[in-house]
Amino acid sequence: MKAYDLRRWASLTGLIILLSACETPTPPASEPPPPPPKQVGDPLVIKGRELFFKETFNGNGRTCGTCHREDHNLTIDAAFIATLPKNDPLFVAEYNPALAKNFENPKLMREFGLILENQDGPDTFNMRSVLHVFAQRVTIASNPNNRFHCFSDTHCPRTGWSGDGAPGTQDLKAFATGAVIQHFTKSLNRKAGVDFRLPTEEELIAMEAYQLSEGRQEELQLPLPLKSLVAAKGQEIFNSPTQGKCSFCHFNAGANVGPRSPLGQGNLNFNTGVEDLPDQPEDLAGEPNNHDDGLGTPGDGAFNTPSLVEAADTGPFFHNHSVATIEGAVAFYNGDAFNNSTAGQAIRGGASKAINLDATQVVSVAAFLRVINALHNIDELDDMLGAVARNEYLDGEHPEHVIKRSLNDIDDVIMVLAGGSLHPDAVSDFKETRALVEEAVQYPSRRIKLAARAQKVIARAKSRIVS
Ligand code: HEC
Ligand code: HEC
Repeated sequence: MKAYDLRRWASLTGLIILLSACETPTPPASEPPPPPPKQVGDPLVIKGRELFFKETFNGNGRTCGTCHREDHNLTIDAAFIATLPKNDPLFVAEYNPALAKNFENPKLMREFGLILENQDGPDTFNMRSVLHVFAQRVTIASNPNNRFHCFSDTHCPRTGWSGDGAPGTQDLKAFATGAVIQHFTKSLNRKAGVDFRLPTEEELIAMEAYQLSEGRQEELQLPLPLKSLVAAKGQEIFNSPTQGKCSFCHFNAGANVGPRSPLGQGNLNFNTGVEDLPDQPEDLAGEPNNHDDGLGTPGDGAFNTPSLVEAADTGPFFHNHSVATIEGAVAFYNGDAFNNSTAGQAIRGGASKAINLDATQVVSVAAFLRVINALHNIDELDDMLGAVARNEYLDGEHPEHVIKRSLNDIDDVIMVLAGGSLHPDAVSDFKETRALVEEAVQYPSRRIKLAARAQKVIARAKSRIVS
């Protein structure tokens, strides 16, 4: 190499070293690590959360969090499944010979995120998507008139996609016991004490408390003063008794019928015809399609109304993940499957079709669902970043973990808003928030200050979405 080249090379590498030094600033050695976080919160919820995500009940290695992922909105889908290692206990049917047959359907699990459930007994099964367990406090109380058979003080909740609940008291405690027997077993004998151990009453109470603490504790009050013109229009159509008619069943975009609804009260079941859609996951995969018959044995074809506030970032949609996008899920209500269904006919009135939205209207209603989901994530983020800024455990979770986990919700807001071309200004705020949080993850010494700053940026983003 000539002297000239050497000099040039040396100055270039110098420049590169200088540049890379600028990109990754190292904190001065004097920056002290944050003091130990404060333990706050309800001990029962803390215990319940620990059990939900860590306890295997001496079974096949799964926990409740194997399917209700804490870093994926307490649910799971095919895209997330694709990121898991082969030995994740979700895939136990693929590596444990005793569970190779009739326990899961690995093809439908990996392609569509579906889980096998034996609601109607061991000889028959349904393929269902994993419900998130957010907002249970306001989304599962059944019609009080139907509670004659209900012995529990938790309002005989309608849990699961068909609202069957679980044998016994039907409540969240019974559901957890049912989930252990269904999903945690080491063999299809499902023998308590051999294939798994049953949760104790104390454990059930703690897990119930944790689940009830997750997500919204109250209903939205619609209409919201939304700033996006498209989303505001969507809200109007959603609530209109002649256009969207959505609020007949999803009052305040939740899971209940309206207080003066002729349909009844609480979280009701309807046959909306999802099972009559063409090209369902089972059909496409060439797998046996049992045609899920909904509530009861034999079923009445009815499914339980889910809340929509949490919908936009927990797709694909419906009990069998048959529709991938939120726009598609809204458009479902225009199709023959819904309009010919029992529920569709019941709300048809004098019109030829119960619901008949045009393309702009479908997109507006979906925009509304996107925006209320973004607001839900903002509330969750405010809780998380607030706990980090105060240097507190969040239901037993260390701030170091909470700050990392907040990245998921930040990415969700960006995806949900940008995916609908909504609020580009708020999307920029969330990109800024992401950078702050990434820095906080990398440099624990700055975590408290950066979380407080991120909280402010999020408040600014919120003010762009709703007045
Ligand atoms: C293998 C995956 C898997 C595991 C593990 C799992 N679940 Fe679920 N969970 C599901 C699926 C699928 C559904 C929907 C079931 C249905 O429609 O009946 C569901 C639904 C629920 C619901 C109903 C929510 C609602 O809004 O109606 C609750 C509550 C719940 N699970 C709690 C638990 C608890 C507690 C555990 C641990 C003891 C657990 N789950 C373990 C897959 C799983
Ligand atoms: C007659 C009652 C009823 C009406 C009216 C209704 N829904 Fe639903 N909705 C349901 C039920 C029941 C389900 C669950 C169906 C299933 O999975 O089989 C559901 C599911 C959904 C889902 C999927 C949520 C998820 O997390 O997978 C979306 C999105 C949705 N509805 C949006 C709407 C919109 C938008 C309207 C108005 C255009 C509307 N719904 C009108 C009862 C209703």
